[in-house]
Amino acid sequence: MVPAQAIYAAVPISVLIAIGFIRKWRSRKWGKCLTDTCLRGKTYLITGANSGIGLETAKALVRRKARVIFACRDIAKAKQAISEIRKEQPTGGEMIPMQLDLSSFESIESFVDVIKTGFHKIDVLINNAGVVVPLKCDEKTKEGFEIHLGVNHLGHFYLTNLLLDQLKRAAPSRIVVVSSTLHEMAKIDFNDLNLRGEIEKAKKGQVKARHNLGYSNSKLMNVYFARALADKLRDTGVDVYTCCPGFCYTNLFRFSVKWYHYLIMLPVALMYMKSAKQGSETIVYCATDYGIEGQTGKFYRDCVEYDSKYPFKKEEEIKLWNISEELVKARKPL
Ligand SMILES: NC(=O)c1ccc[n+]([C@@H]2O[C@H](COP(=O)([O-])OP(=O)(O)OC[C@H]3O[C@@H](n4cnc5c(N)ncnc54)[C@H](OP(=O)(O)O)[C@@H]3O)[C@@H](O)[C@H]2O)c1
Repeated sequence: MVPAQAIYAAVPISVLIAIGFIRKWRSRKWGKCLTDTCLRGKTYLITGANSGIGLETAKALVRRKARVIFACRDIAKAKQAISEIRKEQPTGGEMIPMQLDLSSFESIESFVDVIKTGFHKIDVLINNAGVVVPLKCDEKTKEGFEIHLGVNHLGHFYLTNLLLDQLKRAAPSRIVVVSSTLHEMAKIDFNDLNLRGEIEKAKKGQVKARHNLGYSNSKLMNVYFARALADKLRDTGVDVYTCCPGFCYTNLFRFSVKWYHYLIMLPVALMYMKSAKQGSETIVYCATDYGIEGQTGKFYRDCVEYDSKYPFKKEEEIKLWNISEELVKARKPL
């Protein structure tokens, strides 16, 4: 007879082994950047390179000998990340820490001034930084924009436009916009870009906390921005790619997902969630793979082209571009 204790131990062990197998099987589809070309002499600029997917992207580029500018909100975190990478990769590429707060136009402008003084060209700009903040917190940028609109979209919109000369000088060059497939859940209301209505409802507990419309909208704005930019930059040698890293275990959801959510959802998380490194593969692919050169305006996930389910409309794309320009000029919500 098999003792009861052995059966009790066998059940969780078998479940864990089964989850391990499912994860391994699923991860075959998560994609890997197979290009390993030496990037010596190329300058990459990554926003939010000190943490999560941005950090893993930076490591992959440094391993390929690129010069990487870590554009980070907190310069101490950028330096800390660099010193850790340097310990892992003593012979990797050059790493430069720089301060950039995407929630402040003044910070973006000062950052660009320094870049323009120090760097004649930028080969690849990776717009990776992002935030997810519960809407009920009603967080705003320095200029008073709703935080997701301000940081995830407007900050990168302004930064990219200010860096276009540097990118054009490096042609063939690239802009990689890190979005998310959550853009498919977005609903942009041009009369309320700052989500005043939704925020009031969230404060009263009338919206589902799990779906953050501010975040999904900002990720749709990322896609629209990339599509419009790809059109504007056609024939300049600057390619624009959008990508989704997939659902990854990072700091991104720290304000909205509690530790016990992970515990409850552990089996699902183990099967479906990528590590930050696995998530970075598609970004590194978009930033380095010569096979996609010239295929500007496309969306990638798992290192292959992704066909978004969002019904994109050209009028919406143009409207968003024009409003974003107006907002940057006005430096306040209209
Ligand atoms: N994780 C996922 O499942 C997932 C899925 C799809 C798409 N994405 C996208 O992947 C990108 C990276 O996210 P992650 O998961 O790696 O999250 P993360 O670990 O939280 O990294 C986000 C980075 O953005 C920086 N950042 C936040 N606000 C900033 C600001 N105002 N100015 C400059 N930098 C700022 C953060 O700096 P601090 O460290 O100082 O906060 C951090 O370096 C985001 O664009 C996100 O939307 C993530």
